[in-house]
Amino acid sequence: MHIRTIDWKNNKVRLIDQTKLPQRLAYININKAGDLCRAIKMMQVRGAPVLGAAAAFGVYLGVKDYHGNSWRGFERKLKLAGKYIAASRPTARNLFWGIERVCHAAKINKDRPVFMIKRAILDEAKMIIEEDKASCRLLGFYGAGLLKNKAKVLTICNAGCLATIDYGTALGVIYAAKDQGKKIKVFSSETRPLLQGSRLSVWELCKKGVEVVMIADNTASKLMCDGEIDLVITGADRIALNGDCANKIGTLNLAILAKYHNIPFYIAAPKSTFDLSIKSGREIKIEMRRVGEVTSILSQINTAPAGSKALNPAFDVTPHQLIRGIITDRGIIKPPFLKNIRDTLLRKECV
Ligand code: MRU
Repeated sequence: MHIRTIDWKNNKVRLIDQTKLPQRLAYININKAGDLCRAIKMMQVRGAPVLGAAAAFGVYLGVKDYHGNSWRGFERKLKLAGKYIAASRPTARNLFWGIERVCHAAKINKDRPVFMIKRAILDEAKMIIEEDKASCRLLGFYGAGLLKNKAKVLTICNAGCLATIDYGTALGVIYAAKDQGKKIKVFSSETRPLLQGSRLSVWELCKKGVEVVMIADNTASKLMCDGEIDLVITGADRIALNGDCANKIGTLNLAILAKYHNIPFYIAAPKSTFDLSIKSGREIKIEMRRVGEVTSILSQINTAPAGSKALNPAFDVTPHQLIRGIITDRGIIKPPFLKNIRDTLLRKECV
């Protein structure tokens, strides 16, 4: 089954509403920046790479109705639209990268009529979609070499086609290995509180015919003790220059457990997730979400007494010392990360 998380259709952004999964595959069509911002906050669209595309389209929606014809006036509107979308969620680097991409596309076309600048922004957003499709496949190809036939892989959250355009990062590695004829077994950690692991990863792995076993988040250690896990692979939301990686809360637990059990722990992420402006993970802003997400099951059943105190950081940072390698669309980056991230990402592509 081909799943496309985000698209530009009939002058609207078409998204899979991920809050409706796994009950039903529903789409929403959006033509206002405000609605797109809300969809990001409510996590109807979520996952770092697809947030890059969504943010880029969000900026376009924010400027598309500008009627003036001066660059100055348009630029003001563009900056406001960028700021507005940027305020939706703070952690995923890709979201800001998507905004920067379209703002740059506008700037290099600033001497053209406004309607052409708008078109350049829309074209750039569409290009992000195409690039993501290609980079996930490339990343999957590099990562698949790490997986032997019958490998048992643990992952958390959703870093699959629903978090990208149509393939995935951590799960892209699994799909690529499957396409090479390998049989892979995936353990998907449920991912409290919003259950991306069980609702989304299990859903898409099943659709793609990959064997998947869902576990509660606190089961990982037992599986590792029992020799059931060969490798841990997760996605990332922001990667610092030294290789520290922010990803879904609970990723750090897995990395520490993997270290204890001597199980390789890999991150899979495209170039757009790296933030070369920050030296370490300490500089990554971690999103704090509503405590009601923790004190209930999907805001439907309360699992704690009314008024309970709770904490809900959406991400944690895995220090680079716990990471065996970062699988990217430019190959697998190994330690020492400080040198190798810079060398790999700043290297010009040889065509
Ligand atoms: O809060 P979410 O669901 O947006 O968090 C997503 C993750 O943590 C993913 O693992 C990450 O974005 C990588 S997606 C390829």
